Amino acid sequence: MKIGILISGRGSNMLAIVEAVQSGLIPASEVTVVISDKTSAEGLLKAKERGIETLAVTRKGRTCEEHDAEIIAELKKRNVELICLAGYLRLLSKEFISAFPNQIINIHPSLLPAFKGLDAQRQAIEYGVKVSGCTVHFVDVALDHGAIIAQKTVEVKDDDTAESLAARILEHEHALYIESVKRIAEGKIKIVGRRVGLVKN
Ligand code: GRF
Repeated sequence: MKIGILISGRGSNMLAIVEAVQSGLIPASEVTVVISDKTSAEGLLKAKERGIETLAVTRKGRTCEEHDAEIIAELKKRNVELICLAGYLRLLSKEFISAFPNQIINIHPSLLPAFKGLDAQRQAIEYGVKVSGCTVHFVDVALDHGAIIAQKTVEVKDDDTAESLAARILEHEHALYIESVKRIAEGKIKIVGRRVGLVKN
């Protein structure tokens, strides 16, 4: 399975997936390309150091659709079959979603549908929830809305700040994202409407 990863920044989830693929934990797969919408994304260098092709495709004053068209073309050119969003800070156009049906997944640092959008960990702290976590889900046209593949709960402690909660959630994000990509690579995921389940052998 050819995987493309889209990032905008640090790229720790991207790196976790790259390492899981390179160590064979995610079978029969390769990370074919890492694309960032920001030339300065730290993750680009980390990917390059691991021998992965990297591209910066910036918006350059274009519309979302024009920008996405270039990214779609780069992914199609490389026959990418699964696209992992990993801290990619842009909404995808409907053209992007329909170019890769059920082939785009994302990780979000809350238990969706709670706390969609930016700063989910701060939203959780400010709301006062006792439990938060992370979610891997398919991407559709609505923000943080697509069918849920996997979730992991993380306790919110009394003295947590947005930063300390984010750090604790992040440790679980990496494992959850790897597990989800592995299930997809093994063909073990079935989708019925909004419900994503495991294929029984
Ligand atoms: C993660 O918290 C992820 O859940 C969210 O953006 C952050 C990206 O972190 N979508 P990194 O770039 O993977 O380190």
